[in-house]
Amino acid sequence: MTAAMITVAGLTFPNPVLLAAGTAGYGTELAGVMDLSRLGGLVTKAVSLSPRAGNAAPRVAEFHGGMLNSIGLANPGVDAVHTSDLPSLLALRLPGQVLVNVVGFTREEYAEVIARLDDLEGHGGYELNLSCPNTSAGGVEFGADPASVAAVVASCRAATARCLFAKLSPALPDIAMIATAAMDAGADGVTLVNTMPGMLYDGAAARLGHGFGGVSGPALLATGVAAVARVRAALPALPIIGVGGIRSSADARQYLRAGADLVAIGTAALADPRLPERVIEGLERDHG
Ligand SMILES: Cc1cc2nc3c(=O)[nH]c(=O)nc-3n(C[C@H](O)[C@H](O)[C@H](O)COP(=O)(O)O)c2cc1C
Repeated sequence: MTAAMITVAGLTFPNPVLLAAGTAGYGTELAGVMDLSRLGGLVTKAVSLSPRAGNAAPRVAEFHGGMLNSIGLANPGVDAVHTSDLPSLLALRLPGQVLVNVVGFTREEYAEVIARLDDLEGHGGYELNLSCPNTSAGGVEFGADPASVAAVVASCRAATARCLFAKLSPALPDIAMIATAAMDAGADGVTLVNTMPGMLYDGAAARLGHGFGGVSGPALLATGVAAVARVRAALPALPIIGVGGIRSSADARQYLRAGADLVAIGTAALADPRLPERVIEGLERDHG
């Protein structure tokens, strides 16, 4: 049975299941291994103003219960994404929404990336990865400080009329306060959560080339659900994308029960590209 379209933050989605940022590339590389037309939507991998080579290998390490990654926001830069990667994805004319994940090291960089992508037809808007270090504020991540969140969201708001989701770290002492700052500055919604800071050793050496990384996968499920529940309690009407550790429709329902409007799947889809489709089918059965 096919679920009805849902509207979130003014965008329509054929179902509530998206692919999470960074785990779907720019979409087209997945076209052969999963049915992209089944998805509720897809969030692209990060786009920065300049091309980025990313961090030293190894960039991912598995452990019991999760994955550690430190990709370092590797991407071809906004101009290549504008001329090649994003047009190729949008040419597929998928029924689901495309959101573009944006990173920057100053508020101006975020807004400039958006300004350069905003003429492309067919995408729903942007997800701002606020876990980046703010070089104008001593390297503290944007998302950790309500004034920085407000400043970057306001700059991005001025650059586009499209949808803006602010993506937050689960390692914030008061995530509802930061979500409020994002909303008040013009964000249409929030994505909860990004990876948790993490590190593991292999003998004396760090398992990741960069040392520190981000924890994703099952270990993140309860943390992500808690973040959604806290923000939903504080902000009853704010659109929320729940992400972290989803491997099944039962996991997705945890987020929906906590108050998420949509969910996104990352790590589990890397290991099994057909898993998102099964999650969609599982949710449809429940509502059938
Ligand atoms: C390999 C990898 C790359 C990622 N790249 C990005 C990124 O570019 N931008 C972003 O906002 N989040 C990125 N994330 C975080 C995911 O979008 C997601 O928030 C996190 O992995 C938790 O979901 P999961 O447990 O389903 O993977 C990345 C995660 C992984 C594992």
